[in-house]
Amino acid sequence: MYDVRTIREDFPILNREVNGKRIVYLDSTATTQKPRKVIDAIVDYYENYNANVHRSVYKLAAEATDLYENARKNVGDFIGAKQEEIVFTRNTTESLNLLSYTLESSMKKGDRILISEMEHHSNILPWMRLEEKGILLDYAKIDSNGYLDIEDFKKKLKKETRIVSIVHQSNVLGTINPIDELSSLAKENGSIFIVDAAQSVPHMPFRVNENFDYVAFSGHKMLGPLGIGVLYGKRENLENLQPFLRGGEMIKDVDFHKVSFEDSPIKFEAGTPNVEGAVGLSAAIDYLQDLGMDNVRTHEKQLTKYLMLKFADNKNITVYGPNEAEKRGGVVAFNVKNSQLLRKAKNEGIRLDDFIHSHDIASFLDDSNVYVRSGHHCAQPLMRTLKVTGTARASFYVYNDFEDAEILASKLGDIGVQ
Ligand SMILES: Cc1ncc(COP(=O)(O)O)c(C=O)c1O
Repeated sequence: MYDVRTIREDFPILNREVNGKRIVYLDSTATTQKPRKVIDAIVDYYENYNANVHRSVYKLAAEATDLYENARKNVGDFIGAKQEEIVFTRNTTESLNLLSYTLESSMKKGDRILISEMEHHSNILPWMRLEEKGILLDYAKIDSNGYLDIEDFKKKLKKETRIVSIVHQSNVLGTINPIDELSSLAKENGSIFIVDAAQSVPHMPFRVNENFDYVAFSGHKMLGPLGIGVLYGKRENLENLQPFLRGGEMIKDVDFHKVSFEDSPIKFEAGTPNVEGAVGLSAAIDYLQDLGMDNVRTHEKQLTKYLMLKFADNKNITVYGPNEAEKRGGVVAFNVKNSQLLRKAKNEGIRLDDFIHSHDIASFLDDSNVYVRSGHHCAQPLMRTLKVTGTARASFYVYNDFEDAEILASKLGDIGVQ
């Protein structure tokens, strides 16, 4: 049974009080808190196994290498991939940049890349860089409910489209995109299909399918430590890519003017890797597996539904993204009006923006230890489409409970008069 009370006890930081009050942490989309199991695994690594990996013959180094490689296998099993299809990076951003730099050599002027209007900057800027080479960047539109416009996606999927790179779950709208359908369309078109899974692998059961060429996600968004990320690549894809960075450990042989590279994934991991991060991520995966990813998804859906119902009762709140909890993740972006203030300003002939600035909302909530993100959420093109400069955003994870949602909704009820 999913018991959020006992889960909360596993997270030391959530048991911390600030000014005598509980912390209401609603920013797991930015980064998640870490359970004791992950913290302990990292401490255990340093206390008992620390050595550099893949290069020394002594026992400690062999044990550290085993821990690192077992972590790779655990990540692979978690998403239905083979161990050798998992490259460790720093984060989603690095995984997507790796692809942008390594795929570049196979692209020419006039080729196109298709993304969507709801992408995080991490899945925009690496592709925008290629515009400098004459490669064209297309954005599939979103509709007024925050769903991807599939007809527009199809229209923009052209014969020159070499790469389609799409977010699975939006970090702002919460929209869960139909990536199976999108990947089939991309494959029928002969395009490379990339999934930005930074907000989906942590929150729902996720399996790679044969149409996914590459998948990127971050350990810190799934209870793991900072500084460890993942790039999944189909084996044949990885074998055909050139390395991104060059240096120690990723070679078979180096002569004065010649080099042959290791097989993937090692050829993409130049230099000393983040062993601690891999070990911590593996412990995080064990923790999530124990909870069950179906349960994680159900739990977040219930919280989201509850919060959206609460928000629907407050006429000052505008929520962005799909109405149906089924089709969205546990991310709720919103803005708040102060109707009383607006009325007063209008009577006095003063022009005020409709919404209170999202940073002011976040600061106001911070006074009660309610931690939400505010601003553009690294998705400025999306903000332009939504015609706002920013939003506040509450996001849920395994440790949030109904009380968190209740406190947020009731604090917002204190703003303005409806
Ligand atoms: C959808 C999405 N993609 C990419 C990223 C970038 O992740 P990172 O900062 O871990 O590289 C984020 C971070 O919030 C995200 O939400």
